[in-house]
This record gives sequence, structure tokens and C-alpha cells, in this order.
Amino acid sequence: MPDPEVRVFPDAARLAAAGADCVVRACRDAVAARGECAVALSGGETPRLLYERLAGEPRRSAIPWERVQVFWGDERCVPPDDPRSNFRMARETLLDRVPVIPTHVHRMPGERADLDQAARDYADELRRYVPQTPDGWPRFDLVLLGLGEDAHTASLFPGTPALRETARAVVAYRAPGQNIERMTLTTPALNHAREIVFLVSGKRKAGALRSVLAGPRRPEQAPAQLIQAFNGGRLVWLVDRAAASALPSRVVRAVEIREGAG
Ligand code: 6PG
Repeated sequence: MPDPEVRVFPDAARLAAAGADCVVRACRDAVAARGECAVALSGGETPRLLYERLAGEPRRSAIPWERVQVFWGDERCVPPDDPRSNFRMARETLLDRVPVIPTHVHRMPGERADLDQAARDYADELRRYVPQTPDGWPRFDLVLLGLGEDAHTASLFPGTPALRETARAVVAYRAPGQNIERMTLTTPALNHAREIVFLVSGKRKAGALRSVLAGPRRPEQAPAQLIQAFNGGRLVWLVDRAAASALPSRVVRAVEIREGAG
């Protein structure tokens, strides 16, 4: 397998700026080419800075928000106003601050009692609002993903049946060690995206990043290894120096970083 595209930035702030620029470019290119853009947002804390950059100028005005459809790669199964909600974090840092059309914001209904039906309903929503591949998978224009310290991504956790799901685009389950259920896109639903961007920051992710990018192929233990951009899509890792500190040099193609990138 060819070495993945890994871009290293000096710190979390410049990583967030670069990630935000990726989102702007992907949205503008998608709208120019197809009139609309379907983006799946990541959860957790890492994208917070990126979302805040997107909500500020000049990036806020650069994105054709009226043409953007917003989805999530995963959600914690809590009410949408719960502090743990990925929707709430994105709403506070980004969606309440940009002119996205409310009906274009497709929240994962993680608070519902019947989570299996909720997952099926979200898969239906993907079929309605995201362009599909001929074999019926969502073809997002951009998927943002994070990486857990256990090398999970989205809510695809090590050793769980969700890793082997090949029929459904969305599943909900409780992973061992997790105190709440999660709803997540599955690998086929993620892997057909036109562009997949991982955002990884901080020293505590260095071991996971090394295992995913430079370790033996063991996707059951390192689920982020399951993420591959099918059909000529692009997979890129945007990481900061602290997260990249355990990577072998053959994997890292450091880029010239504009000092003071905002
Ligand atoms: C979630 C995320 C998850 C996240 C990683 C990294 O719901 O938590 O989708 O996959 O991206 O766990 O989380 P941090 O950015 O908080 O380190």
C-alpha cells in the first residue's frame, strides 16, 4: 500500500487552520462541480478549533453555505443539548455562527429509545440527501475524522462487530469500555467519500498514529486502518508535530509551514 499522505504542522492552531482551509476548498470545489456539497463532521474535541476557524472570516464568507448539507460521522447517544453531544459542539462552535440552512443540518438522532431504528432512519436520510455510488453507498464530498488513543475513528472501536459491517451504512451499539451507546457511519459509508481528512493533534495520540500509519496491519486493534478512500478518493492525514512525534521519517512528508498561519 502506498505511503499515505501525511502533512505535519507545528502546532494545533496551524493544524486547525490547515484543516479549515481543506474544508473551504472541498466545499467550493464540490459546489462548483456539482452544485452542492455533503460534509460529514467529526466529533470529539480536536475539530473544535477547526470549526471556530470556519466560523470566522475570511473562511465564513468563502463557503457557499446555502449549498452545504451537513452530516456527522458519529454521535454519542445523548440528547442534542448534552455537553457530550458532537452535534452540540459543532452547533456552538460553527453552525450557529454561519448561514447554513437549518434543514440542511442532518443530526444523528442518538437520543431515541430505539437506536437500531434511529440508525436505519439516518441511513435513509443519507440516501435522500447524499449522492450515492452505483452500489448504494453515500459519496460524501468530505469526511472529517479524528483518532482515538486506542486508534478508533468515528465510533468504530477495536474488536467490535461494527468494524466488520459491510451491509449497513449506519449502526448503533455500545462498545466495551464505553459508558454510552454510539451511532456511527460504517467503513463502507466512510470509504466512498471523495475526500477523507483525518485531524490528529497532541502527544497522547502519537502511539495510535504510529500504529495506524506505520504498524502492522491489524484493523481489529487499529480500526482507523480500515479507512481507505475507494473509487479514486483522497485520504490525507493532517497532524501536528506532537502527534507525529513517533512516526518514522519515511511516513512523514513535512510541508513548508507558513509561520503565523491563522
Ligand atoms: C467522538 C469522535 C471520535 C473522536 C476521537 C478523538 O465522538 O469522540 O467522533 O472518533 O474523533 O475519539 O477524540 P478527541 O478529538 O476528543 O481526542
